Amino acid sequence: MDIKVAITAIEKIKADAIIVNSFETEKSLEKDTATIDQALGGAISRLMEKGEIKGKLNETVIIYTLGKLPADKVAVAGLGKKAELTHNKVRGAVAETCRLLRNKGATTIATIPQGAGINAITTESSAQAIAEGALLGLYTFRKHMTRAENKTGEIKELTIISDSGMKPSLEAGAKRGIIIAEAANLARDMVNEPANFMTPTRMAEIAVKLAETHGLEVSVFDQEQMAEMGMGALLGVAQGSRQPPKFIVLNYKGNSSAGIDIALIGKGITFDSGGISLKPSEKMEEMKGDMAGGASVMAAISAIAQLKARVNVMAIVPATENLPDGNAYKPGDVLKAMNGKTIEIISTDAEGRLILADALSYARKQGAKQMIDVATLTGACKVALGDVTTGAFPNNQALMDMVIAASKESGEYIWQMPMFDEYREQNKSDVADIKNSGGRWGGAITAAKFLEEFVEGTPWVHLDIAGTDLAEKDRGYIVKGATGIPVRTLIALVLSMAQSENKGGKK
Ligand code: BES
Ligand code: MN
Ligand code: ZN
Repeated sequence: MDIKVAITAIEKIKADAIIVNSFETEKSLEKDTATIDQALGGAISRLMEKGEIKGKLNETVIIYTLGKLPADKVAVAGLGKKAELTHNKVRGAVAETCRLLRNKGATTIATIPQGAGINAITTESSAQAIAEGALLGLYTFRKHMTRAENKTGEIKELTIISDSGMKPSLEAGAKRGIIIAEAANLARDMVNEPANFMTPTRMAEIAVKLAETHGLEVSVFDQEQMAEMGMGALLGVAQGSRQPPKFIVLNYKGNSSAGIDIALIGKGITFDSGGISLKPSEKMEEMKGDMAGGASVMAAISAIAQLKARVNVMAIVPATENLPDGNAYKPGDVLKAMNGKTIEIISTDAEGRLILADALSYARKQGAKQMIDVATLTGACKVALGDVTTGAFPNNQALMDMVIAASKESGEYIWQMPMFDEYREQNKSDVADIKNSGGRWGGAITAAKFLEEFVEGTPWVHLDIAGTDLAEKDRGYIVKGATGIPVRTLIALVLSMAQSENKGGKK
């Protein structure tokens, strides 16, 4: 979809549909909506009087223009109470309205700068929210559908209507929104891709391509190099798979200082069968998405590079399958991680924390000053927070607060979970330094406490996206399937670091 900004009188726009808006309990119409209302002979105000347009959030009323305007239809998007309008509501309303119009066969849409000037929404941030809402809400994954009827229905063009003064800021906002939403959609594509396509090798190929396109440094380490670095935990998990594991590192230099301001580490299990501790077969197909954390950090760093954030960022993805096999690792085995700690395997299905242990050790060894890891780590986190909220497990409150602030900007809900040291007890092993399962109770927390052993004091936040990486149905700008969470939060976080640290950037 092409997103552009055009200076035109709204009543002259040629598009299949124009999106205007209405607010709950507001009697008068906004400027552009009033112009359209006039052209339609007062249709919108009459529907408001009759109570058919209430302005409630996510109510959309479609009016056919029947020749009164060059556009076929006008969609009146409800934005709720004016005083409560946020960027996230604009994203959601634009997404829902665009999907509705797509269902009705529209291919070109024009919209007013929704919400601009209300509360914290500026002209620029309105355009960003519109671009994000439209691109995220209209996302589809159809590449494996061969029948023609599944391929139809696409919005080709979205025009944001501008007056002459607004154009530069609308364009800047739209550009930013496009970069951010396309990054989230890249992560969605990778997660939705079946595991027979999205192998560790394929993830590495995508990393190399992203590096070429966006000017990142890339290294892909193979099994032999992992062995040299002592990544015994990651290699243990990879033992049962015939797909060669890959350890993927992308590096973005946004300022001239030496060192890595933040490492973003993502779990890259391209399929999690559970291994010898085999999972039940119901819903096992969803485990193709067990690399969602890895996809999210790859996508985020590519957007961070495009936005030229003045921060040095490293993205790290340990990638492998987790499968049972004659050579697979087994319960009772002891593995040695890169930092020298030994791990007793209780369940081969608690594989995520093993590959992350080596990735966290690697990031520390590279000198990362701060670390965020993103992982579909525990069913327990999904039990605790459902599919709405990502669990966050910090060892450092300042970094945690920055992540929460970034999540408020992105609209991706994140909630801080407890990290009391009492939970460490559950990970104690009789035969090794630690064991890889702390049992059922507090499973998301004991998994985080396991990871903490490999973080060793570096400021760090672990994000468990086991509940939020996939959606069961469309909801605002989230569509069924992969959500792309928390790509937009990671981008917002790094951009906020760029602002607060005021580094001697070179770009
Ligand atoms: N990838 C799973 C976690 C998961 C579960 C993600 C459901 C998304 C939806 C992870 O590797 C896993 O299997 N965790 C185990 C840990 C247990 C064996 C300690 C779990 O949560 O059951
Ligand atoms: Mn598992
Ligand atoms: Zn897993």
